[in-house]
Amino acid sequence: MIRKTLVFISASLLCISPLPAQSASVDQRVESLIHQMTLEEKLGQLIQYTASQPDVRGLAAKGGVGCVFNSGGAAQTNALQRAAVEESRLKIPLLFAHDVIHGYRTIFPIPLGIASTWDPSAAELAARIAAKEASASGIRWTFAPMVDIARDPRWGRVAEGAGEDPYLGSAMAAAYVRGFQADSFLACAKHFAAYGAAEAGRDYNSVDMSERMLRQVYLPPFKAAVDAGVRTIMTGFDSLNAVPATANDHLLKEILRGEWNFRGFVDSDYHAIGQLIDHAVAATPQEAALKAIRAGVDMDMFDATYLTLAAAVREGRLSESVIDASVRRILRAKFDLGLFERPYADEQRERSVLLAKEHVDAARRIAQESIVVLRNQGALLPLSKNAGTIAVIGPLADSKADMLGSWYAFGKPEEAISVLEGIRAKTTQIAYAKGDDIAAAVTTAQKSDVVVLAVGEEGKMTGEASSRAFLDLPGNQQQLLEAIVATQRPVVLVVMSGRPLTISWAAANVPAIVWPWFPGSQGGHAIADILFGDVNPSGKLPITIPRSVGQIPIYYAHLPTGRPEDPAIKYTSKYIDSRNDPLYPFGYGLSYTRFEYSDLRVSGLTVSADVLNAGERDGDEIVQLYVRQLVASVSRPVKELKGFRRITLAAGEKRRVEFTITKNDLQFWLDHGWTVEPGTFKVWIGPNSVEGLEGTFEVK
Ligand code: NOJ
Repeated sequence: MIRKTLVFISASLLCISPLPAQSASVDQRVESLIHQMTLEEKLGQLIQYTASQPDVRGLAAKGGVGCVFNSGGAAQTNALQRAAVEESRLKIPLLFAHDVIHGYRTIFPIPLGIASTWDPSAAELAARIAAKEASASGIRWTFAPMVDIARDPRWGRVAEGAGEDPYLGSAMAAAYVRGFQADSFLACAKHFAAYGAAEAGRDYNSVDMSERMLRQVYLPPFKAAVDAGVRTIMTGFDSLNAVPATANDHLLKEILRGEWNFRGFVDSDYHAIGQLIDHAVAATPQEAALKAIRAGVDMDMFDATYLTLAAAVREGRLSESVIDASVRRILRAKFDLGLFERPYADEQRERSVLLAKEHVDAARRIAQESIVVLRNQGALLPLSKNAGTIAVIGPLADSKADMLGSWYAFGKPEEAISVLEGIRAKTTQIAYAKGDDIAAAVTTAQKSDVVVLAVGEEGKMTGEASSRAFLDLPGNQQQLLEAIVATQRPVVLVVMSGRPLTISWAAANVPAIVWPWFPGSQGGHAIADILFGDVNPSGKLPITIPRSVGQIPIYYAHLPTGRPEDPAIKYTSKYIDSRNDPLYPFGYGLSYTRFEYSDLRVSGLTVSADVLNAGERDGDEIVQLYVRQLVASVSRPVKELKGFRRITLAAGEKRRVEFTITKNDLQFWLDHGWTVEPGTFKVWIGPNSVEGLEGTFEVK
């Protein structure tokens, strides 16, 4: 477990205190600045440019920009900062931002991989380290965490979030916020909201969903981030129920600021204000800017549409007080970060912080926790280090860059460990073939005793603008796989990807399947640690793996239907050409030991069960609690995750795991508010979303 390390890091490495509570003197300093600012200087604070914007330095010197993103390194941020702090009239420091998504220089598994740990302390530690490295380079704000729920793996950005479930997603969201913001750094929960539900899984597409679905599934991780104190929110590119998220009063005013009392500032996504014209809700840049600022978008990323607001104020179409309110929130954040006192990064410190040994060690441990073993027929795994010759084959076997996935900030492919390198660090009897020449790869396999076949997506196939209509293994990988399996050598399939892939053939024909997602800089070592049993696997799926694209959207917490699937009856809810159930369910993952669940007890709202490590190796198990209300005034999902715990059990050790169900766990959205209806509930404690001990409880 990562917790011990977290305590160590927090005690020994953090030197700056958390953001201070609001204080009168800061309020006075903010107001005094606003009082002195011209309208143009105020708008400058609301504008965010990339570092490659022509003459960004000149703009900073004139107070024409408040935030710069995608700059790199202390030297560059300091140079720009000098223009703002030493040359601009009011000396307001720039805020530097970056997409620090799963590490800055030390790269952790992609967020979907971190979610597979089911270990919020791992997410917190990764975020804390990422923020520490980014801060050392002068960056004080990350556009992370992405807390969008994603139930459609065609959408390339499932890689950036915590998967399909609002309960797990909320736990991860809060953990990231705690980690990123531990040390004078701003997190940003994005993309508000429902961006992950893009129709047909096509990025930037529109979303139409019920208020109930929005409240119960898509908003909870944002609420968790706000409750954890997230300082900024980014709007989505989507339109929600025909209203673009960047001009959406319901989301931004009523829910975010009204109901949740969010006090930080809201950023648009890249060019999203200007794109209100493409959404066809504004005819001109000024109309777009007016819609966005009135809805409560404080900062304009990239396109400077907000510059049109100067004329709107002068023409009497917008009160300057609306602009002041946004400036106030942004200045407040800059004061709280200590930017006015310490605007520069220390270039010497930067060198010692990036890739520090404890960061690299943490990346390896978190990657170990994130790897999911899906199949292990005949206990092929773990491999023996003296198993004869191991053929390491596949287009991803020796690809360093593809260990990092998408959005890897200042991570360097040459610093990543490939699968081949990881295996080489364990044993020397290795043969390697890239696999583009299938015949040569087959010959390599034939001369070996066991094959590790590393396939999957290239890192750049996931992330933004990377939707896929097919989720097969890319290129000729399926042919390669079938040819290697035909050699009758035992095959361990290692699948790297940023999303579930449809691997039904492999699931029926390959004895062992290991899924490391994109595991980060230390990925090759972590994979080898699992393959050879130096670490017992413990990751579990945070998202359902479908059999085919035709099953999508597929998620475990679906509603019941009036005609539940019955293979014997035609007119029931099913396919004529596929099973309904997924290839691998949410919450699933194997260990090299065996965990047995027994003696479920329910007492009031406290539910517990014994978990025994019945095998011969120590191991971690992720114990999961699911609930279902049997009858309510609206249909309730057939199962919903309402608790989980990662526990470590020595071989032979048994432990009682107890959960207390709260009112929040049982509530649902009815008409215009949350409600709990009395009735009978089923409850399960088990290893995944389909197995487990079952009990019932009543709510009076
Ligand atoms: C667009 C993406 O949607 C967003 O997630 C990201 O933070 C910004 N670009 C900035 O790179």
